[in-house]
Formats: sequence, C-alpha cells, structure tokens
Amino acid sequence: MSKIIITIDGWSSCGKSTLAKQIAKKLGYVYVDSGAMYRAITLYFLRNHIDWTDKKEVTNALKEIHLDFRFNEKTEESEMHLNDENVEYVIRDLVIAEKVSDIAAIKEVRTFAVAQQQKMGTKKGIVMDGRDIGTVVFPKAELKIFMTADNAVRVERRFKELYDKNPNVSIEEVKSNLEMRDYIDSNREVSPLRKAEDAIVLDNTNISEAEQLQKALAWVKERLKGK
Ligand code: DC
Repeated sequence: MSKIIITIDGWSSCGKSTLAKQIAKKLGYVYVDSGAMYRAITLYFLRNHIDWTDKKEVTNALKEIHLDFRFNEKTEESEMHLNDENVEYVIRDLVIAEKVSDIAAIKEVRTFAVAQQQKMGTKKGIVMDGRDIGTVVFPKAELKIFMTADNAVRVERRFKELYDKNPNVSIEEVKSNLEMRDYIDSNREVSPLRKAEDAIVLDNTNISEAEQLQKALAWVKERLKGK
C-alpha cells in the first residue's frame, strides 16, 4: 500500500505527540518528535555555554552537534540521542523548556533541524509533530492536522506530566512557561507556528484520546483512498 506523510502541528502540550505516536503505531509508520531536536540543541548550548546571540558561535556549535533517534526495544519508543548520549529524559526538564523557544527561533538552528527532518520523510510513511511541519518541513504532506485545546486543560496535562518526574514543580511555573512558549513560537520571524491553510483543526479539549485517534484514522483512510 502506498504511504503518506502526516503532519501534526499546534500549541504546546495539546497532545500532539500522544496522537502522533498512536497513529504511527497503528499504521506501522515512523514517528518523529521534531521538538526533541530543538530541545537537544538547547541542551548542548546550555551545557557548552554557547552565546546564542552570536551567529558565528551558533554556526560553529551546530557543527559539533549530531542528533539521531534510536529505537528503544524496551519502551518501544524512539529516543533522542545527542552526540551518542541518550538525552530523551533530560530534555523534558523545565530548565530546557524555559530556553527552547528562544533557541528554536534562531534561523541557523531551524535550517539545521529542518534539513534533517526533510531527509527523514523521503520515503514517506512518517508522522511528525511540531510547529512548522505542515507549513515548512512538509508543505506537500497528504494529511495535516492542527491541534488545539483550552489553555487550562493544556496546563493541567503538562503539570501532571512534569509532576510525575519532579514533585517540586508548581502549576504557576508550568502555566507561565506554556504561555511564554506559545507567544514566542507564534510570534517569531522564522517559521512561526500557524495553521497551514489545508490543515484540519482538531480541538481535543472535550474529547477522549480514543475519540481523537478515531477521527485522525478516518482522515488517514480518506487520504489513502485517493492514492
Ligand atoms: O513540542 P515541544 O514542546 O517538545 O517543542 C519544544 C519547543 O521547540 C517548542 O517550544 C517550540 C520548538 N519547536 C519548533 O519551533 N518547531 C518544531 N517543529 C518543533 C518544536
């Protein structure tokens, strides 16, 4: 059967990766978390004290960064590796979340990440989530989904996720981080977060995970019909 490219963009913490993983599993497609790449780059910049306002320093630092996703047989998930180190866990920290939107707004960083993301899609059969996947990375994707949910619901979901790892985290911290990231992500000059004209909006404030998956799979079926 022919394969398609599925893009899932949207605001922070509205469940993009949950849905993307489920679709990929159901179809036997590859799932790519593009945000993990920006998070890993942020980790490298922080660890190496890179002055990211200096274009030359950023360009040189990017030359030292090798990113790859490796499949973990135990968790059955792809995990982000930065220069051969598994950083999947550490990149989810709030310290990274506080800086990642600034790093992801840098033109050189985006060029670096987008080139690798586009390479991953050459054989299709891929579900990628992020902010600019349907608009910039795969503008010709067969199925584009734009996800959204009420702010309070998103804050609650992200808080629960972070609290499980670190009980010291506060809901206010999570809320202000989400608001800040949404603002920077949608107002930056390069590839701001916006809905692609041909994307389908999926608001999951009041629907279950199972319902949203059902909807998405129906859209996939429709797209595959035309193939
Ligand atoms: O999806 P996430 O929350 O892990 O993404 C982390 C940050 O990376 C997010 O605040 C914006 C940025 N990002 C981006 O600019 N473009 C993407 N395609 C994916 C993420």
